[in-house]
Amino acid sequence: MKITEEEKKIAIATTQQLLSAYDDSRGSLIPVLQQVQNKLGYVPAVAMEEVAAHFNIPDVDVYGIITFYNQFRLTPPGKRQVKICMGTACHMRGAHIIQESWERRLNIKMGETTEDREYSLERVACVGCCTMAPVVLINEEVHGKITPTRVDGLIFAHQLDKQKAKEGAAQDE
Ligand code: FES
Repeated sequence: MKITEEEKKIAIATTQQLLSAYDDSRGSLIPVLQQVQNKLGYVPAVAMEEVAAHFNIPDVDVYGIITFYNQFRLTPPGKRQVKICMGTACHMRGAHIIQESWERRLNIKMGETTEDREYSLERVACVGCCTMAPVVLINEEVHGKITPTRVDGLIFAHQLDKQKAKEGAAQDE
């Protein structure tokens, strides 16, 4: 996914500012990356380059860490962050089928964001609503007893909301 020049500038400035509080000891590497993600919502390539330069390590080593820990995102989060619970209860009730439904419907894989940045997909551990398994969070809203048909329904409902908001904005003009 491409990010704009403006986003790159912000990412570099933010990362440099965060790095200024750390020396180059390796123990600080993951905490810095976590902070970058907290601030930006993801860790873009330009931020990885800044981090690698600060710690005097190859860019590929930083990339390796980011991809090893699935807490890190490589792409900006979508407006609708779809989090699929992969805890035991959800797993037993077909969370992987729900994951496939979202991936197929949005044409992206887990950890990615749609080109229009409307949706991103990620896995989460148990969100504490096991009686409603399988569970999906959309932003912070919980949706339980999800089936592939409900995935279609949720996407359709969002499209309708978007359409209505567009029409509302056009009427206000
Ligand atoms: S395992 Fe999914 S909510 Fe608990």
